[in-house]
Amino acid sequence: MSSKTAEKVGAVLVVGAGVGGMQASLDLAEAGYKVYLVEKGPSIGGVMAQLDKTFPTNDCAMCTLAPRMVDCGGHLNIEKLTYSEIESIEGSAGNFKVSIRKKARSVDPDKCTGCGECVTNCLVKNIVYLDQPGRSAVEIEAGMKTKVDDILGRCSGGRETIVPILHDINEEFKWLPPEALCRMAEVKEIPIEHILRIASFYNAFSLTPKGRHVIRVCTGTACYVKGAQRILDTFGRELSVEVGGVTEDKQFSLETVNCVGCCGQSPVVTVDDDIYGYMNQTMVQDILGKYT
Ligand code: FES
Repeated sequence: MSSKTAEKVGAVLVVGAGVGGMQASLDLAEAGYKVYLVEKGPSIGGVMAQLDKTFPTNDCAMCTLAPRMVDCGGHLNIEKLTYSEIESIEGSAGNFKVSIRKKARSVDPDKCTGCGECVTNCLVKNIVYLDQPGRSAVEIEAGMKTKVDDILGRCSGGRETIVPILHDINEEFKWLPPEALCRMAEVKEIPIEHILRIASFYNAFSLTPKGRHVIRVCTGTACYVKGAQRILDTFGRELSVEVGGVTEDKQFSLETVNCVGCCGQSPVVTVDDDIYGYMNQTMVQDILGKYT
């Protein structure tokens, strides 16, 4: 080996910390090279970490990957640069200069235990709901406070009571008013972000106000082919409301639903807990009349 070649032996940059990048880094590190392993994702592992089995052998992906991740994670010759991207490369073989942009994580990776609390309590994700102009998230009208306190009083316990409480609040007000959720957070000592995460997950809960009666026109396949769209249009015309909207007098909400399990009676419409099968456009006015 000439002395010029010897000068070139130094550090190696490996781009991408998937299974291939990790194996290359390990081989190079074992051979005595200093390895900089750059990965644009927040952790090493790549796509394989998201797989259950691999084709065609049906091997467990994690069994293949985990030993390499552990070796890579602890190897003194491998410097992991995760959440980083290459901005520029200059120079030539043996003398490269690489600029790498390291993205901000907003957490201290040395202290992070992976508990997930920062995701649960992410204010950025949930602030929009609470921060509506002209409304303080903590003010609650006396009547609403009494009703919410009654519900909270009936459900003793911690976080396991969130869903039943949300159910009762939704039942009481036909939606989940932010003031009620703030009161719930305060009394139960549960972060509001955690409550919102659950409230926004289930379709049964509404974060927007509803009418006194909720009309749902089934647009599942069986109902659709029997003219559900025409029925939906008729309701919309009669009530002067769009799908997803509430009438001006707050009497009705108009929504669609995908199958209510009565396909044999299609097309089907529900109003609150009442089910109307074999619907046609001429029945719309009669049905509305029952609820006004
Ligand atoms: S598709 Fe409408 S009830 Fe099943």
